Amino acid sequence: MHPLQCVLQAQRCLRWGPLTSVSWLLLRTCRAHSGVRSSAGPSPERRQEDGVWKDFSSRLATGPTFQHFLRSASVPQEKPSTPDVEDPPPYLTVDDLLGRQRKVYLETYGCQMNVNDTEIAWSILQKSGYLRTSNLQEADVVLLVTCSIREKAEQTIWNRLHQLKSLKSKRLRSRVPLRIGILGCMAERLKEEILNREKTVDILAGPDAYRDLPRLLAVAESGQKAANVLLSMDETYADVLPVQMSPSATSAFVSIMRGCDNMCSYCVVPFTRGRERSRPVASILEEVRKLSEQGLKEVTLLGQNVNSFRDNSEVQFNNAVSTNLSRGFSTNYKAKQGGLRFAYLLDQVSRIDPEMRIRFTSPHPKDFPDEVLQLIHERDNICKQIHLPAQSGSSRVLEAMRRGYSREAYVELIHHIRESIPGVSLSSDFIAGFCGETEEDHLQTVSLLQEVQYNTGFLFAYSMRQKTRAYHRLKDDIPEEVKLRRLEELITVFREEATKANKTFVGCTQLVLVEGLSKRSATDLYGRNDGNLKVIFPDVAMEDVTNPGLRVQAQPGDYVLVKITSASSQTLKGHVLCRTTLKDSAAYC
Ligand code: 5AD
Ligand code: SF4
Repeated sequence: MHPLQCVLQAQRCLRWGPLTSVSWLLLRTCRAHSGVRSSAGPSPERRQEDGVWKDFSSRLATGPTFQHFLRSASVPQEKPSTPDVEDPPPYLTVDDLLGRQRKVYLETYGCQMNVNDTEIAWSILQKSGYLRTSNLQEADVVLLVTCSIREKAEQTIWNRLHQLKSLKSKRLRSRVPLRIGILGCMAERLKEEILNREKTVDILAGPDAYRDLPRLLAVAESGQKAANVLLSMDETYADVLPVQMSPSATSAFVSIMRGCDNMCSYCVVPFTRGRERSRPVASILEEVRKLSEQGLKEVTLLGQNVNSFRDNSEVQFNNAVSTNLSRGFSTNYKAKQGGLRFAYLLDQVSRIDPEMRIRFTSPHPKDFPDEVLQLIHERDNICKQIHLPAQSGSSRVLEAMRRGYSREAYVELIHHIRESIPGVSLSSDFIAGFCGETEEDHLQTVSLLQEVQYNTGFLFAYSMRQKTRAYHRLKDDIPEEVKLRRLEELITVFREEATKANKTFVGCTQLVLVEGLSKRSATDLYGRNDGNLKVIFPDVAMEDVTNPGLRVQAQPGDYVLVKITSASSQTLKGHVLCRTTLKDSAAYC
């Protein structure tokens, strides 16, 4: 059997039982039908480890039985905190799962979710005894956390794999062989293609399979390839505390939900990251409390559809209260009911530490009921910043995209948000050149950019993705040069409008959370205002409001008031007035 069939077969098994057992079956099946076995085997230099390897191989050959799979299928879904160590599959011992001080080099591509996934993957590997390195040359394991959202993102990974291939082949024979893994969306989307096309890849782990990394690496140790690309209905890594990359960071990301049920017609995310599921509120609050105790000053709640949050983990949360959508918005799925919703979570999170700023990304415009808007308005530490991905300014294109709203409903929501949260900062995502987009449609997007005047924007040329509805039903009929020309036009208009919007801050005083030294000038500091705009100001001594008479130099994590003197489409500049606290300060114009 082809290795890929192993993957597919295991996916079919998914309907019967929990994932962990399925993934074990996956490896067992792959082993039994060869094809995945690498010709490599252990290097001569590893002969001293041969005893271990042979022992391991023979155990692998007598791997789990179908009975074992069935037995595992009845294990409750609750995950132990160190599952890999406590419950290894029968063909591996606890020792096989240990990292034995192997050095792991992690490289992250794509969105903030991937940064968070990298921290989760590292947390799991660290517990298994791996060490982290930031020096590629000394790595024993290289893991790429990948993105599939656009063709270009994937091309970057293919190019990187080429470079890693040569690193692998030049590796000194006195060292353990270099193992290379693809994690995340691209592993999920391309499974077979990666294994076939890039012999250099040893392991694949989809976004829901990071707990399995120690086992996958243990199998790769023996010279075999290992893959787990199974998607889960309930994996949220709730009990895995991500390890912050930078110990000096002032802010952290906290994943609150994963996956997406929206099925926008252009988007591959529902296929790579699976169904929408939320992490229990209690575990989120616990993580935020810990971050507050560590002195972090900003938390960004993360999810593919962060404001669609719905904690159904306890029976008592599952009442029949129906979901309030934003006015004029609909969903592509059957209405969901009950659960603890985003407004509840936001309220609870913002109460933990009044000095901690709360942000969230990325929301969907359909899930902005009044209770969420009101809370953002009322609570000092919830940033008045909303990302409202529009994707297009043409109702016709929005329908083809299956976004669940018209231009009119979107604009009405913008007005409603601005009335509810005066001074709110707005940002958006747009796609240029979607299937069937006419020049008139494009001009409507231009006019939406002018009408709304976003502070920040993320603009992309459409990239056809397999599996999506657009791939199956629509034609990618806008020539590349037209897509790029339209994209350029959108970027130009967006910059003009953002400059205008940001110039309204000139003369205002902004509360800035200091992040560090400016990258462009050693005499300047930078931080972010409430609206998440970068603010640059000279690093000079200032008064400390809580200690009158004391002159201080701002440090990362301090709140300072900055009087804005100039603005561009991306940054504000000004001079610092004083150090303060979030509670004591009020940014003003
Ligand atoms: N092509 C171009 N852009 C895309 N996005 C999602 N899918 C595609 C695609 N196939 C953009 C959307 C989304 C952002 C994260 O990426 O604007 O909001
Ligand atoms: Fe993709 Fe739409 Fe889901 Fe966002 S909401 S992740 S664009 S399918």
